[in-house]
Amino acid sequence: MYADLFLTLLFSVLLCKEATCATNQTFPNYFKFGVATASYQVEGAWNEDGKGENIWDHLCHTNPDFVDDRSNGDIACDSYHKYKDDVAMLKDLGVDFYRFSLSWSRLIPLGLAGSPVNQAGIDYYKNLIQELVNNNIEPLVTIFHWDLPETLQEYGGFPNPEIEEHFAYYARVVFKNFGDSVKYWLTFNEPLQTCHEGYGIGFTAPGYKSSGLAEYKCTHTLIKAHARAYHVYDEEFRTQQQGYVGIAPDTYWYEPASGSVSDQEAAERALQFTYGWFANPIFNGNYPSVMIERIDERSKLQGFASSRLPKFTDEEVEYIKGTHDFLAINAYSTLYVQAKEEEVDTAVISYDSDLNVDTFFDDSWEESASSWLRVVPWGMRKLLNWLSKTYNHPEIFITENGVSDTGGLNDDRRINYYREYLSNVLEAILDDGVNVTRYTAWSLMDNFEWARGYTEKYGLYSVNFDDPGRPRTSKASASYYSSVISSKCLVDNCE
Ligand code: NOJ
Repeated sequence: MYADLFLTLLFSVLLCKEATCATNQTFPNYFKFGVATASYQVEGAWNEDGKGENIWDHLCHTNPDFVDDRSNGDIACDSYHKYKDDVAMLKDLGVDFYRFSLSWSRLIPLGLAGSPVNQAGIDYYKNLIQELVNNNIEPLVTIFHWDLPETLQEYGGFPNPEIEEHFAYYARVVFKNFGDSVKYWLTFNEPLQTCHEGYGIGFTAPGYKSSGLAEYKCTHTLIKAHARAYHVYDEEFRTQQQGYVGIAPDTYWYEPASGSVSDQEAAERALQFTYGWFANPIFNGNYPSVMIERIDERSKLQGFASSRLPKFTDEEVEYIKGTHDFLAINAYSTLYVQAKEEEVDTAVISYDSDLNVDTFFDDSWEESASSWLRVVPWGMRKLLNWLSKTYNHPEIFITENGVSDTGGLNDDRRINYYREYLSNVLEAILDDGVNVTRYTAWSLMDNFEWARGYTEKYGLYSVNFDDPGRPRTSKASASYYSSVISSKCLVDNCE
């Protein structure tokens, strides 16, 4: 009997290495496929044509050891000069849309509300957008993808509430200049990482370590800035431009490590402290109650006169609530979650101790080149179901999903990743009734992977960073993704 069981298991494991493991159902006709990049990761031209310095320029130039290979985005993929090549690649892939981000300091070198706008920056994005439109590729634009103008950092960065005003000015400039052609907007990319990694644990620029303190102030400003931009769009542009505005938070799928109530609560808490931190104020009103209660209580025990989690006024709760036209999610991987004993020692001030869970990967989950990313396709389906249920069945855009390796054109593991994750997306749509309408592969091409430099590759196209011409070459995954887009099918034969 055990031999039978073993053979069945072995068979299914072997089968799952083949295309047949994925569903042979077909994506609905309305479903759109795209790819993504971000300004600092691909553009280069860091000081050309009037662009101002941003926090990544500053960090990489002043502290090169921050980045594993001591590289930077000075040239990156040189998309500032090679955007037509990028659009040609998009055309070859056959994508419906291209998600890219705007560099705030290229458009407004000082970043400050009321400060000069850089016409060369406007021209660059107008040209890129026009090239996309000419090729029938829809632009999906991220207004902020981590490259804050350095001047604003010198004003204190996101923990300074004034950023809301500067961001509103920036958003108005971009809606006004690009809104005739751009109908889909994301205000912020992965706000959790901007605040937790940028101001909490110091893994990304500006590299501050003020966990449980400045990072909460950061998110408070950022959520208000998002809502403000949404209202600017609503009040000044929507009638004429008829577009849609959202925000793209990220999370793991957090799977309870056991069926125990405490592990299930811990997993839900982790989802609320990551995705819910941003989505709850925007979809339901205010921070998740579990965050408010825990941080209020711990702050009190620690002797603070008020909570370390700032409070929204009732008017702010109402102003922020409903500022979404769709739900966006960046998702790559899964973690198991286990409840932790409540800490008796409350001296530790940090987001992690406020959340208080243990997380871990299963050893059997396939590794990628990124230590934080293991391949767990079923987590995508569970996450989509959780999002749909928790936020009242919204339209969902997957704004990032992908996997890293260390290079090579025969990237079969990336093909398997896409096939199996997309299979779970499709099952969530067709079998579970989740309203996912877009999928975005990260990334169009290998690029500057933040503190990992050029050591981790996510692209469908490889870029030769040793060659000043930055030539691009398609990988096997580009041809797979392109066949998925044209057939709307993941395997050789669909139903
Ligand atoms: C998250 C970010 O949005 C993107 O900039 C990054 O390169 C990818 N995920 C991979 O880490």
